[in-house]
Amino acid sequence: MSVKIEYHKFDVVVVGAGGAGLNAAQVASQYCKTAVISEVYPTRSHTISAQGGISAALGNLEEDHWHWHMYDTVKGSDYLCDQDAAEYMTKQAPEMIIALEHIGLPFSRTPEGKIAQRPFGGHTAEFGKRAVKRACYAADRTGHAMLQTLYEKSVAQGTHFYSEFYALELLVNDGAVNGVLCFDIQNGELHIFNAKAVVFATGGNCRIFQTNSNAHINTGDGLALAMRKGFSWSDAEFFQFHPTGIYGAGNLITEGVRGEGGILLNAQGERFMERYAPTIKDLAPRDIVSRSMTKEVLEGRGVGQFKDHTLLKIDHIGAANIMEKLPGIHELALVFAGVDCTKEPIPVNPTAHYQNGGIPTGYLSQVIKGNMEKEEFVPGFFAAGECASASVHGANRLGTNSLLDLVVFGRTAGEQAAKYAMANSIVSLKDDAGSEGLANLQKYANANGKYTFGEIWGELTRTMQTKMGVFRTEKLMKECYSTLLELEAKMDDYRVNDKSSVYNLDLIEALELNNMILVAKACTQAAILRKESRGGHFRDDYPDRDDVNFLKHTEVYLEEDCKTPRVDYRKVRLQPLTVETFPPKARVY
Ligand code: FUM
Repeated sequence: MSVKIEYHKFDVVVVGAGGAGLNAAQVASQYCKTAVISEVYPTRSHTISAQGGISAALGNLEEDHWHWHMYDTVKGSDYLCDQDAAEYMTKQAPEMIIALEHIGLPFSRTPEGKIAQRPFGGHTAEFGKRAVKRACYAADRTGHAMLQTLYEKSVAQGTHFYSEFYALELLVNDGAVNGVLCFDIQNGELHIFNAKAVVFATGGNCRIFQTNSNAHINTGDGLALAMRKGFSWSDAEFFQFHPTGIYGAGNLITEGVRGEGGILLNAQGERFMERYAPTIKDLAPRDIVSRSMTKEVLEGRGVGQFKDHTLLKIDHIGAANIMEKLPGIHELALVFAGVDCTKEPIPVNPTAHYQNGGIPTGYLSQVIKGNMEKEEFVPGFFAAGECASASVHGANRLGTNSLLDLVVFGRTAGEQAAKYAMANSIVSLKDDAGSEGLANLQKYANANGKYTFGEIWGELTRTMQTKMGVFRTEKLMKECYSTLLELEAKMDDYRVNDKSSVYNLDLIEALELNNMILVAKACTQAAILRKESRGGHFRDDYPDRDDVNFLKHTEVYLEEDCKTPRVDYRKVRLQPLTVETFPPKARVY
């Protein structure tokens, strides 16, 4: 393998080409020389699989207000979100939708030609009184439409694209982030991008779970790179299990199905969500629905030969309606479950869908380094989208707030990075810039040991699924952590069979697996230490929320060995930007 490095200079470098990365890039490119580095061709990024919609209080079909949206976001987060960021995002949402419409996003329409909106879990009118139609959508392919639109816009703005480039190391000099070392997957060549500002938009990491809705690239690389350079992963223990993954496959069946009238049934044909959330039923927030489904199974009311899943019924809304509003899920159910959902229910189970936390940022997308005593912004470093945490999701994200989060904070990251780049000169590279990433690459390129990807990845994902899933206990999580340590040790006796330089995906998988084990350890350690239940983190041994001890963000850093998680905490920003705060109450739906 070549160790020749090609050097590039940019004002702004964006890592990741999902919705957040592309929105950041198209904005930054309007001001300065901007590059996007992406592991895949941009329109194959995971945003493409977002289905049901993007939230905004447009009020096109019924009265709605951004205050109601903000209230739902804070309550849905189980009060762990930062309220300045929640206000910033929900207030900008209507204007953001119009901006997307103006650059060509083909939203579905009402008969009068307005942007159509549908209900989604946890989105309510009048501070929780009833469900409200707030999700703007493009049939059930909203993320697909968004990604194509933002890619076209970025190309039109003259963004430089480096597709199929894999990031190996985040570069830092004297506390300032100043670039990235990358590997060109097509030919194995190395590149260093030296930049005035770096935006991380590297997506999530739910591939660490056996049943998940995520793209193959969602392996937590951005988090691992940031943690190795002394930055933290905020609220790492909070994952979202989307209630309706296709049984056995994990693929997403959009919550839009329930928004259009779909209902969940147990083996007795009972609409069991009426018992768990009498007001908004199947449209309760996802953590509540996923736990309710799991309880039905655990209490013997599961469906099928193994009584291990539930059913999602939608045929009653009519085939024509399904084919107009939910054509994508009709196809997915046919292909992955062998079910025609215009006639029969879809077998479903909760699927790991989203990491609620991420690299901590302020509401202007500047990366934060901090603890309970102090916080500071990191010069030259910005983050947006699922890899980041502004934090608007806290312990549980509301459906359709992810697309909103990524476009709002993507745009802000692009603006702020460009502003920073125009006001500052480039920080030069350290003499040994990239040496750590290069050493790690060479370790795996030359690995001739015993273990290969499949066996380690299989054990990792099975362990995370069974011991760090919807219901957690100290015992299970400690067992999980021990297994992760064993897997980490096996990575020192690893084998990469492919020794070529061209599209060496065996090598990329090894690097990803190494990152997955690191992030799995980090979130498990954070979960063990959060001795309460909140949002997506539910503990049988601590079933109640504990605001006295845990109304705080977890921050997982690494010890100096760059392997061992060290858990710290940071204050939640309970003060909104302009509106008055309200006291946390128990969540009743
Ligand atoms: O159910 C869905 O369409 C997913 C949306 C989301 O995660 O925001």
